[in-house]
Amino acid sequence: MKNQVSYQGMDFVPYITRQTIDNRIAELGQKIVADCKASDPEGADVPLFLCVLNGAFPFASDLFRAAEDLDAEIAFIRLKSYEGTASSGKVKEVMGLTQDISGRTVIIVEDIVDTGRTIHNLVQQLKERGPKDVKIATLLFKPEALMCDVKPDYVGFEIPKKFIIGFGLDLDGLGRNLNDIYILKEVKENA
Ligand code: HPA
Ligand code: MG
Repeated sequence: MKNQVSYQGMDFVPYITRQTIDNRIAELGQKIVADCKASDPEGADVPLFLCVLNGAFPFASDLFRAAEDLDAEIAFIRLKSYEGTASSGKVKEVMGLTQDISGRTVIIVEDIVDTGRTIHNLVQQLKERGPKDVKIATLLFKPEALMCDVKPDYVGFEIPKKFIIGFGLDLDGLGRNLNDIYILKEVKENA
């Protein structure tokens, strides 16, 4: 872990260590395995982990393997923004989902749920495809920023409404490869 990292003139300090992240992902993986086995004891359903690129890839990679006791698949999607109608505002279209998800349990894997708009919209789009269940696993959750009716099923860490980077989270594309999570340093007014 570094004492400080800087991108675009902004300074970030350590916030969540890789060790803490690893431990938490192991717990989430075990919880997902237990829940899936409880709801489907026969193992008839093969859950699909759906990694939302780009930010969720490190989390999805670790979470998927933390659930090794489950017969499961993983797929990767991107959400492409386009301007919708005036009433719907910005819509994000799902790109790259080729699997048939009807009758299946889908576990969306996100890096962060902030306002919740993206994930809310994604859940609606997935539900149109007739899945058995749609669950949300997010590494980070900012409850104070939430503006939609979204309730993540698996949350790594609840955090305040502050900007963070690392472990997949970026500032204009940078910082995703940091092994730990860093938070924007508070600027002291009278320093
Ligand atoms: N960091 C990076 N990306 C984000 C954040 C954040 O705090 N919130 C929503 N997207
Ligand atoms: Mg981002």
